[in-house]
Amino acid sequence: MWFLFFLSFLSRLSVKRPLFAANWKLHIAPIDASAFMRSFLAHYGRHQDRSVLFFPSALAFHAAIDAVKERSDISFGVQNIHWEDKGAFTGENSAAIARSAGARLVLVGHSERRHVFGETEEETGLKVAAAVRAGLIPLICVGETLDQREAGDTETVVLRQLRAAVAKIDASKIDDALIAYEPVWAIGTGRNATPEDASAVHAAIADELKVLVGQRSSGIPILYGGSVNRGNAGALLAAPGVDGLLVGGASLDAEGWATICNTTLTS
Ligand code: 13P
Repeated sequence: MWFLFFLSFLSRLSVKRPLFAANWKLHIAPIDASAFMRSFLAHYGRHQDRSVLFFPSALAFHAAIDAVKERSDISFGVQNIHWEDKGAFTGENSAAIARSAGARLVLVGHSERRHVFGETEEETGLKVAAAVRAGLIPLICVGETLDQREAGDTETVVLRQLRAAVAKIDASKIDDALIAYEPVWAIGTGRNATPEDASAVHAAIADELKVLVGQRSSGIPILYGGSVNRGNAGALLAAPGVDGLLVGGASLDAEGWATICNTTLTS
């Protein structure tokens, strides 16, 4: 049964229905997660043309997933995994543990992991490999800092991060992956990339994916993240090459997040 859901999830992704992904970061306790979900579901009816993803904290994961039953259009992921499958790694969670808790996805290479916790490009590659081994779908996050953008290095940095993230797996395995372009300067700053800027970077990522994966790369969704809100979600989603949104702050209010997930699609 679970496997059938998983297959239908993959096939939905492959037609690139827009994805609305909520990264709760270090917010929303278990005690608040079920009330959040009840409120979200009250404001978000089932849409056949899109999927919603939630990335709660590891401890709130169960409360969140348990509050959403029988909704194949809503999936859950974890915010982080360790690259080892098991062992003496106090405080960590493995991809297999995440899978057995009901996660289908995992964020890898989020800018806060890279810039706050010092995660290296090598480590993102190890984590993607661990995710693939366990059957978790990696949502690989890439993005440049403001200094790198101003130096004209955006593409160089983003594509290097992408290549490093998939360096430790057979490229044919990443046609199940998702990518998120999240410019570091746009995260939590209220300053989003313009739809044009997002499209330009998404096009570069899509070209690189074609080199890495071949024709099947066209099924890999590329999400935009960084100061998405209900005011800019429609325009960002309408930008060529933007297949979904990865949202932090604006996903923490159930009704506001439902409003974003209800965004009218223009194409
Ligand atoms: P904000 O939407 O708060 O800018 O965060 C984006 C993000 O980091 C999502 O992963």
